[in-house]
Amino acid sequence: MDDAVPAGGYVQAYDAWRADPAAWWARCAEGITWDQRWDRVFDPSLGPYGRWFAGATLNTCFNCVDRHVAAGRGEQPALIWDSAMTGRVEAFTYSQMQTRTAKMAGALAALGVQYGDRVVIYLPMVPEAAIAMLACARLGAIHSVVFGGFAAAELASRIADAKPKVIVSASCGLEPGRVVKYKPLLDAAIALSPHKPDACLILQRDAERAELVPGRDHDLAEAEAAASPHDPVSVTATDPLYILYTSGTTGRPKGIVRDNGGHAVALWNSMQMLYGVDAGDVYWAASDVGWVVGHSYIVYAPLLRGCTSVMYEGKPVGTPDAGAFWRVCAQHGVKVLFTAPTAMRAIKQQDPDGGLLRRYDLSKLQALFLAGERCDPPTAVWAAELLNKPVIDHWWQTETGWAITGSFRQYGLFPFKPGSGGRPSPGIDLHALDDEGQPVAPGHTGNLCARLPLPPGSAPTLWQNDDGFHAAYLSDFPGWYRTGDAGTIDEDGDVWVMGRTDDIINVAGHRLSTGQMEEVLASHAAVAECAVVGATDSLKGQTPIGLVVLKAGVNRPESEIANELVALVRERIGPVAAFKEARVVPRLPKTRSGKILRATIRRIADGETPAVPPTIEDPAALDEVAQALRH
Ligand code: COA
Ligand code: AMP
Repeated sequence: MDDAVPAGGYVQAYDAWRADPAAWWARCAEGITWDQRWDRVFDPSLGPYGRWFAGATLNTCFNCVDRHVAAGRGEQPALIWDSAMTGRVEAFTYSQMQTRTAKMAGALAALGVQYGDRVVIYLPMVPEAAIAMLACARLGAIHSVVFGGFAAAELASRIADAKPKVIVSASCGLEPGRVVKYKPLLDAAIALSPHKPDACLILQRDAERAELVPGRDHDLAEAEAAASPHDPVSVTATDPLYILYTSGTTGRPKGIVRDNGGHAVALWNSMQMLYGVDAGDVYWAASDVGWVVGHSYIVYAPLLRGCTSVMYEGKPVGTPDAGAFWRVCAQHGVKVLFTAPTAMRAIKQQDPDGGLLRRYDLSKLQALFLAGERCDPPTAVWAAELLNKPVIDHWWQTETGWAITGSFRQYGLFPFKPGSGGRPSPGIDLHALDDEGQPVAPGHTGNLCARLPLPPGSAPTLWQNDDGFHAAYLSDFPGWYRTGDAGTIDEDGDVWVMGRTDDIINVAGHRLSTGQMEEVLASHAAVAECAVVGATDSLKGQTPIGLVVLKAGVNRPESEIANELVALVRERIGPVAAFKEARVVPRLPKTRSGKILRATIRRIADGETPAVPPTIEDPAALDEVAQALRH
C-alpha cells in the first residue's frame, strides 16, 4: 500500500478543524452512541480550561462492547489474548466480552462499588485487566490501573490518593525467568496506605496461588461467576472514566484524569484518522495496560471502533526470540502494530538482518507506529527498510491520551523524515515558544506548547487538584498548555521533539522522574547529596545513573553503599526504574549559586567532554565526575 501521497487531505482537515473546532468535534462525536446529546460541544466556563460535550450522557463500556453486539458483531473477536509467557492464546468475542464485563461489573457492585467510586486495578497483561477496566466504566466507577513493575510504596501512594473502594489484582505476573508475586506487594501497599479498600478481588493464576485475607479478599473468578450481570450506567460526558498516575516533576505522582465523552470521541476518531483502521480490523498495541498507550490503544480505542484488539503478555525478545512480534502479527492478521522504539531496538540488536522476520507472513501488516520516546533515526530507517511498510513516529503523552503529532493514514502520510514526530493532529494548535512565551522561528528550539483548549480526550484536570493542573501545565505560558517537551517545528510544519524541559526521563518507553530517584537516594543514611541523570542507552533510550556525595565520616566501602542504593530504588520505586548504577563522587558540580549542573553531568555520562559552564563554582568537580563514571 502506497501511503506516501501528498498530504493535501491533511491540510484540508486541519483547516476545517481550525475554522470551526466545535463543528469538527461534533462531526467526530457522531461515531459515539449517546444517551443524551450535549448542550454545548465545548463549555469554556468549566474546569481549568473548559470541558467538552458538557450536558451529554453516555456509557463508555456500552460504546466499547454492547453496541457492537447489537450491530451484529457479537461473534467477532473483540480481544485476542496472546501470552508468550504461558503459551496460551484466547479470543473473546464481543458477545463474550459483554457477558464478562456485565458479570464483572456485577461482582464489583456486589462489593459496594457504585457510580463515582474508585477501583484500583493492579494486574499483569491478562484479559481480566481489560474486563475490569470496562466493568468499572460500565458502573460509572473510576478505575486507576497501576503498572505491575512498580514497588509496593508506589502502589501505596496511588491507593492513598485515589481511595479505592475495591482493588482488583492477581496472585502473580510473569516476567522472563521469574514469577512476580503481586499479592505480597499488594498486602504491603495496603499496609502502607492510610486508606484501606473494603475488599480485594484476586485473580488466581496457575504459576502462583495467593493466600487470601479472610473477610477482605475474594477469588475473582468465583465472584464473577456468582455475580448477576449489571447494565451500563449512564454518566455525564464530563464524569471521570479513569485516573492514571504518571511521573511528575516532584516525587509525588500526578493523577491524570480522563473523562468519558471527549475521550470516546477523540479515540474513536483517532483509529481511522491516524491508524487507518476500522471496525473488523485487527489492531495491536504492544504496550502494557499500566501505561496510557495500553489504556487508549489496547482497550478503549480499538473497542470503541469495533476492531479486534490484541493483548500480548510477553517481550519483544526472549519470549522465545526476536521474531515474537512478527509471529503475533502473522498469527492474528494484525493490520497495524503500535509499539515503543525500545522494542524495535531490542529486536534490531538480536535480529539485525531480519532472518526471523522473514519466517512470517506479514502481508496483512500495513504500518508500524512508534511512540513513548523519540525513535532514533537509524532504528526508524532499519524498521522501514526491513518491513517495507510505513513506519510512523507519533508524539504523545499520558496527559493528552492520544497523539499530539503524527502522520495521518486517513489523509495520506507525510514524507518519511526519520527522527520527526510528524505534524500536529487536527485539534492541536502547536507552537515552539521561547521562555517569554513568544513563538520562535521555524527550525529554532523552543518549549512545545499547545494553545488552549486542549482537544477532547486530553486530561481536563488532575484528580481533585485543579490548582495542581494549573500550576503544572498552564501557569508558565498563559493561554497555552506546556507539554514539558522541547523541540523545533521546521518549515514544512514537521515537529522534532528533542527532550524534556524537566526532570523526566524515558527508560525503555517508561516515564520516570529523576527527582523521585534523588529523593530515594537522599533518604539513605550515608548520603549527603545526590544527582540522578538519564544517560543515553543504546537499548532503552535512557538509563538512570546516580551520583552521590557521602556524609563526612562515612568510610564504608563505596561499592557496598552503591549496592544498597540500587536495592533501595528497586524497593521504593520498583524494577521498572531500571536503576542499576550509583557512583560516589567527592562533590557535585554546581553553579556559584549552588545549582547542580545536571545537564553537564548527563553529557559527561554520555561520554562527551562538555564546555565548562561559565557559572561553575569549581571546574575540577567535572573531572571528578568523569573519573567516577569511567570506573
Ligand atoms: N511487572 C513486573 N516487573 C516488570 C514489569 C511488570 N509488568 N515490566 C518490567 N518489569 C521489570 C523487568 O522484569 C525488569 O526487571 P529486572 O531488573 O529484574 O530485569 C525491569 O522491570 C526493567 O524492565 P524494562 O526496562 O522493561 O526492561 P526489560 O529488560 O524487561 O525489557 C525491553 C527490555 C526493551 C525488551 C522492554 O523494555 C520492552 O519491551 N519495552 C517496551 C516498553 C513499552 O511497551 N513501553 C510502553 C510505552 S508505549
Ligand atoms: P508518557 O506520558 O509516559 O506517554 O510519556 C510522555 C513523554 O514521552 C513525552 O512528553 C515525551 O517526552 C516522550 N515521548 C513520547 N512519545 C514520543 C515521541 N514519539 N517522540 C518524542 N518523545 C516522545
